[in-house]
Amino acid sequence: MQSISCRPVSSAALRRLAGALAFVGAALPALAAEPSVPYVPTPQEVVERMLQIAKVGPRDYVIDLGSGDGRIVITAAKKFGARGFGVDLNPERIRESNENARKAGVTDRVAFYQRDLFETDLSEATVITMYLLPRVNLELRPKLLDLKPGTRVVSHDFSMEDWKPDLYEKVDAKDKYGGTGGTSDIYFWVIPAKVAGNWRWQMQVGGKPRFYEMTLAQNYQVISGTARAGGESVKLQNVRLRGSEIRFNFTAGVDGAAVRHEFSGKVEGDAINGSAMLSGARLQGQLEWSARRVARSAAPRDPGARVSQSFSGLFD
Ligand SMILES: C[S@@+](CC[C@H](N)C(=O)[O-])C[C@H]1O[C@@H](n2cnc3c(N)ncnc32)[C@H](O)[C@@H]1O
Repeated sequence: MQSISCRPVSSAALRRLAGALAFVGAALPALAAEPSVPYVPTPQEVVERMLQIAKVGPRDYVIDLGSGDGRIVITAAKKFGARGFGVDLNPERIRESNENARKAGVTDRVAFYQRDLFETDLSEATVITMYLLPRVNLELRPKLLDLKPGTRVVSHDFSMEDWKPDLYEKVDAKDKYGGTGGTSDIYFWVIPAKVAGNWRWQMQVGGKPRFYEMTLAQNYQVISGTARAGGESVKLQNVRLRGSEIRFNFTAGVDGAAVRHEFSGKVEGDAINGSAMLSGARLQGQLEWSARRVARSAAPRDPGARVSQSFSGLFD
């Protein structure tokens, strides 16, 4: 098992692969529609590690964008029990993929379409895989961020710039570049729910209704915020968003005594439903938690820019 840590792409690796891709691209025959990325297959060992990192299983639907000879989707079906499809502009790749799927005995679970990846409906995906180029990843980024929260995305060798991965891993790839060998970078993201804005809820605490407000700022999967509880303003601690699962805590006074509030829930549009664990010297217990969003922040469609809208009016 390789060690896992978050790191930016190595510029040397990026130059090497971009060079190799450009070389292969120059050698490609002219196609009906020009592919934005030339064909270089992901080494099989890297394919398997990408699918392991994404924890692909029988309930998954995998879409490979620019699917080459179909190896990622075929492996996802054969070794991991998933279903899915691949799209590629090159009809020769689609023919190869169909032949490879037939040889692997997975034609009932995979399909390959000659189609532009930018015109492909991705809504069925639980996992998206890609081996493209940095600028293509960036062009795709808004479309990926609009997918169902919780959808997993794995990219071979190329990052998403300021959208940092949830997980990064470097792996040895002895079959890379037709057997020359090298290393591969694997980037993994979970599509975050859109949570920026102002939220309110009420809970019965110590037999009395208590009102809460919270403002969340969001930069991709990284969120931060403050809450207002009983006239007291507190910073959210240990804030975490993974897909649509959110959790955070803060300590606020209740009847003059400090009470730790731990929230966890699921974001569904403008609602969060879950539970709150309250613990203080005189108060202990778990409550249902249902928050409503009362104002969305004006997040850009691709929130590459930091969201720093203030909602001071709601707290006044
Ligand atoms: C680097 S290869 C990756 C192949 C495969 N995903 C793998 O990892 O082995 C990129 C593939 O994307 C295809 N491609 C490039 N631009 C595309 C586009 N706009 N739509 C669909 N396929 C595209 C190319 O024809 C090529 O087969």
